[in-house]
Amino acid sequence: MPGRESFYLTTPIFYVNDVPHIGHAYTEVAADVLARWHRQRGDDTWLLTGTDEHGQKIMRTATANGVAPREWADKLVAEAWKPLLATLDIANDDFIRTTDERHERTVAAFLQRLYDDGHIYAGEFEGYYCVGCEEYKRPADLVAPAAGEFAGRQVCPIHGRPVEVLQEQNWFFRMSAFQDRLLALYEERPEFVQPASVRNEIVQFVKQGLEDLSISRSSFDWGVRVPWDPSHVVYVWFDALLNYVSAIGYGQDEAEFERRWPAVHLVGKDIARFHAVIWPAMLMAAGVEVPRAVFGHGWLLVGGEKMSKSKLTGIAPNEITDVFGSDAFRYYFLSAITFGQDGSFSWEDLSARYQAELANGLGNLASRVVAMVDRYFDGEVPELGTLGRGDEFILDAARQAVAQANEAIDRFAIDEAVEASRRLVMTLNGFITDEEPWALARDPEQRERLATVLAIAVRGLKTLAVLLAPVVPKAAARLWPALGGEGEAADQDIRVAVEDGGGRVAPLDPPLFPRIELLESA
Ligand code: MSP
Repeated sequence: MPGRESFYLTTPIFYVNDVPHIGHAYTEVAADVLARWHRQRGDDTWLLTGTDEHGQKIMRTATANGVAPREWADKLVAEAWKPLLATLDIANDDFIRTTDERHERTVAAFLQRLYDDGHIYAGEFEGYYCVGCEEYKRPADLVAPAAGEFAGRQVCPIHGRPVEVLQEQNWFFRMSAFQDRLLALYEERPEFVQPASVRNEIVQFVKQGLEDLSISRSSFDWGVRVPWDPSHVVYVWFDALLNYVSAIGYGQDEAEFERRWPAVHLVGKDIARFHAVIWPAMLMAAGVEVPRAVFGHGWLLVGGEKMSKSKLTGIAPNEITDVFGSDAFRYYFLSAITFGQDGSFSWEDLSARYQAELANGLGNLASRVVAMVDRYFDGEVPELGTLGRGDEFILDAARQAVAQANEAIDRFAIDEAVEASRRLVMTLNGFITDEEPWALARDPEQRERLATVLAIAVRGLKTLAVLLAPVVPKAAARLWPALGGEGEAADQDIRVAVEDGGGRVAPLDPPLFPRIELLESA
């Protein structure tokens, strides 16, 4: 649509060797909040997610379970990964699987182009391979644990498992040729890799010298065949990264590709290197514009370590959503953890914040205001009367919350955007406490003042419904019409505070965030 800015956002595509845990859910939810936010700004938004299905890791898992890799992937996609999107209330626009025909065709065509243009050569390589990461490791990246099952052996620092020595005759991508152009890119566009901690790590890594990349495998056959040498399949990361362009029609639907590209890639910091080094080098080789930005978020930690299924520390997202709901899941992880840093999860913290910020905070404020409009004005949202300085302050606080939240989103500071709403809830709660509308209601001479106080509170809450719609979409969808808003909260412009009142309130029953008693076992 002409005139609308394109916002094409991607999540990593998830390995289907196992079911999702809350670390995966975190990436997904953060991306969904950003996408919903941009939709509410009127941007031409597209959110892509999907699954990474080729490679040794998936093949080994399928074999260990006695099924063919495709069958395994189909099962995991249908039973685990697609249901995750419903569990978390993700509004993705597309779901790509690397086994989709549209994707495999693009991988083959892209690789052929690089081959034809002289970026690919045959070579030999020996190195340490981590199947968990699906990556060759530099000796300096490995660690030797002093104790435990793998004491004294060379293990991957992310997976904590021994690497394998691989020697291969492979096809190589001349990635080293792009070292200078990559360094120039990081220099000229500091926003290309974010946050700064991840950017620094990437710059250091590339400055140490880029090696060429082995991009094919012949020891197994679960992957896209190399077009000019069908005895090899394409290296799983080279294959996977291309999902970001195959999904929007690269080489097949130029109009769609032009409309969407370049993307913003949201990834965990563990895979930022693939996205900020290998991926732009591949695109440069093919003459395609590099992404707008790569943001590497932090990890959810358990006992100080990255939560993972392989270390048996994974928590299934629905363990949380079954108790607290998807809105609370989204709100908690995006507000309690500074986006870009690591964070720990605990049931106690989740429960305490749910109670304080959602049930007693936003939920209670909304219920009280709606009930008072119902009771004192027969459900009709009253008109604003004469405004005093305190009133202007409250109306202005709503405008400021909107401005601060939008500014924070531009910096990927999702937690700060949520914090702006949380402060507005506190401000409005303080206003109600100070003004005591229930006392005003007892005095007929204070009728106009009562109307003004409730009219201000309704405006503030409506602003909150709009501002929180990307984060707690279910609650916002109920809150907006309950305050007399017309249409949908998710269709309101998120860049401006709500300045008009009017309409009829409707009771919030059950409350937006019901009280939850945590079971002992949780
Ligand atoms: N398949 C690759 C990505 C290919 S993208 C072209 C992959 N998949 S993954 O399933 O292992 O991880 C997907 C995402 O989940 C990554 O962004 C990763 O950082 C994230 N997380 C996995 N465990 C995590 C935590 N404990 N905490 C936060 N995010 C974590 O990598």
